[in-house]
Amino acid sequence: MPLHKHETDSATDQLQIRPQFTQLGEISEVPKLRLAPSGMPAATAYEIVHDELLLDGNARLNLATFVTTWMEQDAERLMAECSAKNMIDKDEYPQTAELERRCVNILADLWHAGEEGGATGCSTTGSSEACMLGGLALKFLWRQRRQAAGKSAERPNLVMGANVQVCWEKFCRYWDVEARLVPVGPVATCLTAEAAAAHCDENTIGVVAVMGSTYDGAYEPVASIAGALDDLAASSGVDVPIHVDGASGGFIAPFLDPNVEWDFRLPRVHSINASGHKYGLVYPGVGWIIWRDRAALPEELVFNVDYLGGQMPTFALNFSRPGAQVVAQYYNFLRLGAHGFRQVQHASRDTARWLSQEVARLEPFELVSSGDGIPAFAFRVREAPYTVYDVSDALRVRGWLVPAYTMPPALDDVAVLRIVVRNGFSRDLASLLVDDLKRIDERLRGAHPGRADVGFHH
Ligand SMILES: Cc1ncc(COP(=O)(O)O)c(C=O)c1O
Repeated sequence: MPLHKHETDSATDQLQIRPQFTQLGEISEVPKLRLAPSGMPAATAYEIVHDELLLDGNARLNLATFVTTWMEQDAERLMAECSAKNMIDKDEYPQTAELERRCVNILADLWHAGEEGGATGCSTTGSSEACMLGGLALKFLWRQRRQAAGKSAERPNLVMGANVQVCWEKFCRYWDVEARLVPVGPVATCLTAEAAAAHCDENTIGVVAVMGSTYDGAYEPVASIAGALDDLAASSGVDVPIHVDGASGGFIAPFLDPNVEWDFRLPRVHSINASGHKYGLVYPGVGWIIWRDRAALPEELVFNVDYLGGQMPTFALNFSRPGAQVVAQYYNFLRLGAHGFRQVQHASRDTARWLSQEVARLEPFELVSSGDGIPAFAFRVREAPYTVYDVSDALRVRGWLVPAYTMPPALDDVAVLRIVVRNGFSRDLASLLVDDLKRIDERLRGAHPGRADVGFHH
């Protein structure tokens, strides 16, 4: 969340209630930053808030986000029916808790947790919370091991590529862990096996491997990283577990790349997180985390809540949390099944690949990735009298939200645009985007008159 400052009202901080279709008594002002002494009719309040939100971008044209912006109406109806349910009230809403349990089981199965059934997991508000929980488990386990060996547990570090999502840097700062960021470079934009192992030492609580880098969508080579860490353990005794950040890829790889080994098939993988609200196809916010067995989740992190006369173990940073997203996750599992998920993700990857090839065909652009990992890709401006930031601004005029940013440290002289293809972004919309990119290139090069020179002919 952005941090908002408490401000005192000034004369301009009044909300003008002057609708064009004035109802009696509506012409007035209310303070924006303080509570007004009295309220207003529901319809008026609705209209004010609704109208102000018209200035938000169109979520469906938001190609910046990995987060779901389209769901079926039946799912929306279910979510509306569940909007009052609090996920933590397991006693009051036992069936919502049951659906969460089924989702955890479905994911454990999808990620190849052992048949013996020791895998444990929960829902979260998103991957950020799930990553915090995964990181905490690694830290507590490492501390237990150090203390048992009579060694110092003062200086934990976490090894990860410099391309990790900011939640990992947050984890390290909030929980006093050194963030050991492995530089990425022009050849490898992600963590490599050799670099991961080379950065580990006896104080390393774990290695984070990302399935679907936030910067360019690429999968990190989890199996090779696990192999390098196996070698390290054999040669030095430094035995480092892996947490896989599958925020996006956790819902893509099982369906589109079943032969890529990145999950609990690798014994070194202790825990995996994914965002239900990304390629789990649910509106924000729901995430998931699964540990391979109870040994990977230290007991001291687990709290027990009273539940139907018994005890329900919980591990979470929040207490209250909406239940609707968990219900919607279960709806998606039921509705799509494995085949449906495969089809949806396949369509997104197809569109991402098609779009990246169309972009590559446009002279000024050069691909940084092509949508072969998660259905997202990045591209840069090769040679043109304008920058990625100009393209991003120009696209915004048409309603497209395509972010421009620099790559992680060591690659930060490279500025890119990134497009995330999600369910609901059709091939038709993608081709409209290509047309707009062509027009923007021409306009920015000055081949056509700029907008200001064009007459208004209505
Ligand atoms: C790789 C990765 N990890 C973690 C996150 C954080 O996820 P969430 O937005 O679900 O908290 C993201 C978000 O984009 C991500 O791409």
